[in-house]
Amino acid sequence: MVMIGATSGALTGVSSPILAVGLHKGESVPQELEGTAATKVLSNGDFSGKEGETALIYTPDGMATPRLLLVGLGERTSFTLEKLRRASATVAKRARKLKLNEVTFVLPMPEGAGVREAAEAAAEGGSLGLYRFDRYKTNAESRDLEAFTLLSDDERAAAAGAETGVKLAAATLLARDLANEPSNTATPEYLAERACEIAERYGMEATILDRAEIEAGGMVGLATVGRSARNEPRFIVLGHRKGTADAAPVVLVGKAVTFDSGGISIKPSAGMGDMKYDMSGGAAVLGAMEAVGALDLPLNVVALVPATENLPGGDAFKPGDVLTLHSGKTVEIVTTDAEGRLILADTLSYARRYEPEAAIDCATLTGACHVALGDHASGLMGNDDALIAEVRAASEASGERVWPLPLFEEYTEQIKGDTADLKNSGGRYGGALTAGAFLKEFADYPWAHLDIAGTAYNGKAKNSYTPKGASGAPARLLVEFLRARAEDRDG
Ligand code: BES
Ligand code: MN
Ligand code: ZN
Repeated sequence: MVMIGATSGALTGVSSPILAVGLHKGESVPQELEGTAATKVLSNGDFSGKEGETALIYTPDGMATPRLLLVGLGERTSFTLEKLRRASATVAKRARKLKLNEVTFVLPMPEGAGVREAAEAAAEGGSLGLYRFDRYKTNAESRDLEAFTLLSDDERAAAAGAETGVKLAAATLLARDLANEPSNTATPEYLAERACEIAERYGMEATILDRAEIEAGGMVGLATVGRSARNEPRFIVLGHRKGTADAAPVVLVGKAVTFDSGGISIKPSAGMGDMKYDMSGGAAVLGAMEAVGALDLPLNVVALVPATENLPGGDAFKPGDVLTLHSGKTVEIVTTDAEGRLILADTLSYARRYEPEAAIDCATLTGACHVALGDHASGLMGNDDALIAEVRAASEASGERVWPLPLFEEYTEQIKGDTADLKNSGGRYGGALTAGAFLKEFADYPWAHLDIAGTAYNGKAKNSYTPKGASGAPARLLVEFLRARAEDRDG
């Protein structure tokens, strides 16, 4: 695990095996690098400062370091904390690739940002960029970067920012690890065990309901989806109680279908392996709880993770079945592949007992959302405009993009059942919205829904800090949302 720290002082004195310096487009090198080969690299036109560009320079004149890495930051006026995360990841990965133990990175400052904020983003980028899921590679590269040090003129602020950034990144790293883990390991029980470890680490309350308790509790959607699987379902409850005793909690809900075959309405086999990621919502919620604990946020937060497999079998539920869900509403099964909304419906109505001040669910819910927004934003729906605005602000802060989608009444019309109150599919058109409209029937408190089907995992690396596989989104968004609520309360 890389240590991310801070230092200050002159660039010329840095003795790390590599010193990384960010440069904006059209700008010259910092004064201390004038006269080194860096000047020549620029004047020869070998480096323009565009985003992601790098230039490695050996034995720069007058410097203590043997290597200088120039890294492009793009235009100064459009440089943001998100671009800093990416530049930072580029630096960390390049240093590792060179098989060096440590790197010092001159902390670039986005306009309007303080050192603390910038260090936070740089630490996140460095930590996330170095992520790899290689535990099943029998000859995995064991060497890793040991130290990533941010150089700025305010070492204390940078150290504080780096410490927070590392904790925020940990949310995403855990979410990635859980989601990348294949379904033969990452069973509902496995997720429950990982949740209990988080609770133990940070003094949270953990309650795990097994199959019998799920049934006894009336969570018919979860019990039914999980009925035919050998790996039995679990309902995971984590409680972080660091707010005032009587304060209503924020409830986080994460879909955790550890493998979604579609059930009797079985999916085509091509690409079915990706359905190990169908627990990414639950992974993000558990990741967020890890950071909530590490940051010791002064809030009451409850995490609810319904975990199950969705498999065909002799005991499986079938199209045409009618279920009476936890809330008492009835639903007609059009397709057993629309399982996520069934387990989430139960969870959202279970959440009523907390009288939440707000609830956010995240779920790899619909292929339609992926079609609508591509890989670049999660779909955001809900029943409360102020909450939706807060989620959008948290999205900005974390770099985990979301975009609002409507829940018009007509979408609710589309899922009215023939023989039951509701049906679990509204057909092909507007699939993300009819799924959202379905969930809306079960939330009678301020609620927001994130459809992460397009953002939870990637077929190829998305940017320098988001590799192929699980992205970990929206774990940091959830933490930023909670952080903002905690700050509001203080101020
Ligand atoms: N887990 C899937 C959604 C999904 C699809 C996530 C692709 C990530 C990538 C979900 O359970 C599902 O199967 N949804 C169906 C709903 C439909 C049958 C109403 C879908 O999107 O096709
Ligand atoms: Mn499905
Ligand atoms: Zn699913």
